[in-house]
Amino acid sequence: MFTNVWYTAAFSKNVASEPKHVKMLGRDFVLFRDDKGVAHCLSNVCCHRGAPLDQGTCQSDGTLACCQHGWRFGGDGHCTQMPAAPDGAQIPKAARVDSYPVEERYGMVWVLLGDEPEKAPPIPDIPEFDAEGWRWLEYEEDWDANYHWAKFSNLDYVHLPVVHQQLWNGGIRPPEHEVEYLDETSLSTGIRVKTKRGRGLWGKLRKLESEVCSRLKFYLSGFTLKVDVEIGGAGSGIRFIALDMSTPIDERRTTMRFLFGRNFLTSSWADKNTIKRNLKNIHEDQVIAEAQLPKVLPAVPDSRALMADPEDKIVKEYWNILAAHRAKGWQIDREALDEAERNGGYHVIPSPARRTDPDGWVYNEVPRIDPASLAQAAE
Ligand code: FES
Ligand SMILES: [Fe+2]
Repeated sequence: MFTNVWYTAAFSKNVASEPKHVKMLGRDFVLFRDDKGVAHCLSNVCCHRGAPLDQGTCQSDGTLACCQHGWRFGGDGHCTQMPAAPDGAQIPKAARVDSYPVEERYGMVWVLLGDEPEKAPPIPDIPEFDAEGWRWLEYEEDWDANYHWAKFSNLDYVHLPVVHQQLWNGGIRPPEHEVEYLDETSLSTGIRVKTKRGRGLWGKLRKLESEVCSRLKFYLSGFTLKVDVEIGGAGSGIRFIALDMSTPIDERRTTMRFLFGRNFLTSSWADKNTIKRNLKNIHEDQVIAEAQLPKVLPAVPDSRALMADPEDKIVKEYWNILAAHRAKGWQIDREALDEAERNGGYHVIPSPARRTDPDGWVYNEVPRIDPASLAQAAE
């Protein structure tokens, strides 16, 4: 799993007056809002004696109070008060927990899990989300599948006819499509093709023989996939967008968070239909992702593994993007982590404060794969 990536941690509406526990990258975090309503994300493990901060309470001074001895932590992770300490007592430097950069975008709380936010790829730009004339719906669920399998469930055009019965020109082979890099960590591809007209409400939006345009983008940030379909036929401007974001809970489970946007039938009465037709696809993908083996993929996948065209065009570049991120030293070394915790202990995802002030932390940071060792292994 990878650090220095922005992940979606929750829908904003689910972070309210109570602290909220979230598991990401196999570690525990707490989300809470301060007295101004600003969302924060801290490591959930109290630096004093390891109590879970999500069991504490949000205070009127904007801090989060630990459930065991009441130490208060600000959004920056620093302890501001130790209620049982004598008046004038100094707060030790180590009385702090890791605090991670947070941004709220598209109705979601995004958290940068890492220590180099200035070098991490930015949160994807989705201009349609705030544009007039669009209606957006939210949905989330946890899958018993590792994040690669979960992501691959929609990272090609070939599975669509096979899994979702969406034939291209009446068959399985999609038209030629090239994968372009938008920047170092995001990809784009697209097709224009005749498909069977959809059933029900949406089918009526398109003439029988017209073509549809489908554009697919992948962003490392949030492990976000954007599928943009001109559902009313090419040139109609009638569009549906599905955004799916994948956050690894650990190596075996993934939180799938979805946004469905449409610029047609924007009244609420059509929402149920939108959710229903998308859930059908999502659950067709889920069954496969949850059954795929191995449950946990190798930390460094074998680059010689079978790559077919056209179904692996995008997946191939996905692996290249992850390899580049790994080469920056940002992939968690899970073998070293397992070894380090074999006899106990807890390790945290390093936060930006560890770079400016590396000493005096109660918990060590998770080990990450040293790029130099990768270079040696490749020789
Ligand atoms: S364990 Fe959190 S204040 Fe003591
Ligand atoms: Fe799919």
